[in-house]
Amino acid sequence: MDGTCLGFRDWKGVSIMCGIVGYFGKRNASEILVDGLRRMEYRGYDSAGVACLYDGQIGVVKNPGKIKALREKVDASELDILHKSTQGIGHTRWATHGLPNEINAHPHLDASGHFVMVHNGIIENYKQIKAGLAQQGIACVSDTDSEVLIQLIAYCYKDNLESAVSEALKKVKGTYGIVVMTDHEPGKLVAARCGSPIVIGLGKDETVIASDASAIIPHTRDAIYLEDFDMAVVTADGVQMFDLQHAPISREVTAMEWDEDAAEKGDYAHFMLKEIFEQPVAIRNAIRGRLDFDMGTAVLSGLDFSPRDAAQIGRVLVVGCGTSMHAGMVGEYAFEEMAGIPAEVEQAAEFRYRNPIVTPQDLVVAISQSGETADTLAAVREAKHKGAIVAGLCNVVGSTIARETGRGVYLHAGPEIGVASTKAFTCQVAVMLMMALKIARTRRLPRHEGEKLSRWIERLPDLVEKVLGENEAIKAVAQKYADHENAFFIGRGYLFPVALEGALKLKEISYIHAEGYHAAELKHGPIALLSENTPVVALLNNIPGKDKTLGNAEECKARKAPVITVVSEGDEGVADGFDDMIVIPDCPPCIAPIPTAVALQLLAYHIAAARGCEIDQPRNLAKSVTVE
Ligand code: AGP
Repeated sequence: MDGTCLGFRDWKGVSIMCGIVGYFGKRNASEILVDGLRRMEYRGYDSAGVACLYDGQIGVVKNPGKIKALREKVDASELDILHKSTQGIGHTRWATHGLPNEINAHPHLDASGHFVMVHNGIIENYKQIKAGLAQQGIACVSDTDSEVLIQLIAYCYKDNLESAVSEALKKVKGTYGIVVMTDHEPGKLVAARCGSPIVIGLGKDETVIASDASAIIPHTRDAIYLEDFDMAVVTADGVQMFDLQHAPISREVTAMEWDEDAAEKGDYAHFMLKEIFEQPVAIRNAIRGRLDFDMGTAVLSGLDFSPRDAAQIGRVLVVGCGTSMHAGMVGEYAFEEMAGIPAEVEQAAEFRYRNPIVTPQDLVVAISQSGETADTLAAVREAKHKGAIVAGLCNVVGSTIARETGRGVYLHAGPEIGVASTKAFTCQVAVMLMMALKIARTRRLPRHEGEKLSRWIERLPDLVEKVLGENEAIKAVAQKYADHENAFFIGRGYLFPVALEGALKLKEISYIHAEGYHAAELKHGPIALLSENTPVVALLNNIPGKDKTLGNAEECKARKAPVITVVSEGDEGVADGFDDMIVIPDCPPCIAPIPTAVALQLLAYHIAAARGCEIDQPRNLAKSVTVE
């Protein structure tokens, strides 16, 4: 057996596409575990399982496929343990090592059947550990990297579970969030974290452990967020925290802010539709108390810099991925236009690996709904390492990026369950505008201009409400185009990122091949693809560059492509001669991305719905991309 510590501080990013839940208390554990797993379904998974401990015995039920099937299997089980236990662990697995079948599903038992564990993450040196275990006559039965860890914990066990866990974790290279129990020590759960979130919810007479707040909020709001290399031991006496040397540590108890209803679908057909319609409220929450009309500025105390600090910022670098990167692009334009400050946005993976030039005068803004995206987190670490001022812009409170940046702005958008990001995008843009406004006011933006902009930001919820009022009209347009297999989105200026975002929304939920382009870029190649089968969504809102985009839309029409126009109210004439029109309220260029994006979200949603797609859990996608 290889007994060396394999440098487990080498963080690489971990799959928290999987979900973990653990329960210790007085109620029926299997019910709480299965319900917790259901609440984390949105993350994406392909198998699920639970293990309970009762009367000195462990019972495990697992299944490839949906939670519904797991629930039926648990209900039908003849194992008394599952119906009487008040202590257990559960897991949803998104396959990385090995097929999504029953053997590879978690929880994993060790060879003796006395130890059981759920694991999120990747054990990078699992082959080495597996070989060492084999030399000791311990055989693994699954193809997973995870199973070796519980075998190793069992191998390290003498008479205390947490000592065995810490011993085993010192031999592991990779990432983990785990919960373990053994029938040698009933009445105890041990959880640990390195690179994969673990939250401990402290209820009355019960403790709920999870990788995601959504499994905890029905039970309690008081939570401890584990830091990397923390270990929590849960017993009837409460929760004790240790480091991996098994020395006691203390961690703050924080209040989780999301309520239970926010994570339920209610009467909506899909979470995505619910979240689209929640945007007026979400944006209101994102801007509440953050606009100072007198001074024409924004109050973002979490940024923790004075006007003097703000005035000294030499450049803004925004890093993010996917939809968050698109929101960052809107921010880039706003920083340059309002504050006259050089700004760049970069795909976070590119930023982390290309050895970027970063100076202490740079403000690096890491933008991430989940706060867990591996590449964005790595970009944060790179920027911090290079001495930049690093701020986070996250939705998930207590997420890794929020904690590691230490300064930033929360979106307060409420939980976003649909894999396709909607309300997070519009709130990210709203917060970006406020950040730009705040910095702009320490520079060249006069107070009256700042006030005007603040008033427009304040009106955002109403503008979005108006677009939502167009839902049926947008649905009718969507139904006309649901059978196409290709689509283009074009825009300029502040609407260029929105064209990219519109295309991303459509492709991820409808599986239509959709591309967003700067309208001027069409002629440099993509126009070759246009035909009567390639609808083009042209963003023709009343902002600078509209006339040029109009010319580009005419070029599309001349190639027989059907053109769907997005136009400003009062300017409907620009849509003459084109095929379809979506009207949004007239507003200044920097404000336009928000109502326009909402219209494109509805368009994508209704197209996907007409095609019968699995909108909330599109194929191959997970809510947080925590692997490279
Ligand atoms: C959006 O619809 C996507 N599912 C995806 O692009 C997402 O925005 C991206 O993975 C970044 O996630 P984050 O905001 O949680 O960092």
